[in-house]
Amino acid sequence: MDYNTQIIKVDYTSDIYTQIKPAIDSLKSSNIIGIPTETVYGLAANALDEVAVQKIFKAKGRPQDNPLIVHISDLSELESLATDIPDIAYRIADKFWAGPLTMVLKKSNLIPNIISGGLDSVAVRLPEHKLARKLIRLCGFPIAAPSANISGSPSPTTAQHVFDDLNGKIPFIIDGGNCSIGLESTVISLLENVPRLLRPGGISIEELKECIGHINIDKSVLEDIASTTPTASPGMKYKHYSPNTELFLFSGTSEEYISYISNKNNIGALCFDEEKDKLNVPYISYGSIYDLSEQAKLLFSSLRKVDKLNVDKVIVHAPDTSNIGLSVYNRLLRSAGFKIINTSDLKG
Ligand code: TXA
Ligand code: MG
Repeated sequence: MDYNTQIIKVDYTSDIYTQIKPAIDSLKSSNIIGIPTETVYGLAANALDEVAVQKIFKAKGRPQDNPLIVHISDLSELESLATDIPDIAYRIADKFWAGPLTMVLKKSNLIPNIISGGLDSVAVRLPEHKLARKLIRLCGFPIAAPSANISGSPSPTTAQHVFDDLNGKIPFIIDGGNCSIGLESTVISLLENVPRLLRPGGISIEELKECIGHINIDKSVLEDIASTTPTASPGMKYKHYSPNTELFLFSGTSEEYISYISNKNNIGALCFDEEKDKLNVPYISYGSIYDLSEQAKLLFSSLRKVDKLNVDKVIVHAPDTSNIGLSVYNRLLRSAGFKIINTSDLKG
């Protein structure tokens, strides 16, 4: 334990600068801290300071070839970080920034190699969370921030989650309340002629298509990419979002799910609100079956509770995959190591 980790609970009714100044000073002297964003909490460092960025990889136990997102506080900061920016990037920024959308562009010389994991591109995001933007502005440099969890575990959506994972490893966590979206940003690459979706997130494919027309969906979004395969989306090939308990994803109706689970020994359920009273096994609910945004918001905190069910296996009822549901499904596929139970297999 290097630090006595302090949570700074921000009181919006008094001067914010005075409250977060110790955290800003910490970032200015090459340290890393936990920060809120509208998607998930981030583990922040000065993106232009290699010593600081190296500390992110060490604290998370993150593979060095998995690049980091660089966060800015205003669109005008983009042009020093990326080059050959296509017009479509400005169209996307106009519609979705500030917000849960990350663009991958050709990197400028300002970006250290440690940020880009050896690629010649950089991922940039302008977060919507006011406190995050204020912090970046007051620092005067862009902020590198992966999700503030230990690599492999579910992303944090509260300051307490960050504390649970990183207590003693960082000096400060700024507490900006619960994350309003609860899932990471959508990552889209603009390096090819047709934009390529690398990770579904807070902005849905449907919304993106409405703004920019056709987009390609990277294979890694719905398939298990072996860790040795070269991919446009390095982050998607690693073990992710997993509790210790083994998870299986169940694809089918509520009736089929309930009947599959009934009376099995030593299993638990990660289910929807409408199903919980009909189950006779321990359960956690991740929201209403009809409310995809609520599912997104509750997913990671629910995954963090799974081990407390004290069962060998947990069967997750898979969400509807329209809109933000696809992002929820993408995270659950990884949590379950791509193990899916299909009703058609059961009948066959
Ligand atoms: O919502 C978010 O994006 C959060 C908050 C803190 O902003 N951050 C986040 O960072 O989710 P992280 O490191 O957990 O995920 C970053 C993703 C990874 O899948 C990584 O591989 C991808 O973005 N990425 C970063 N730079 C890239 C690049 N140059 N090319 C392709 N993918 C990149
Ligand atoms: Mg992450």
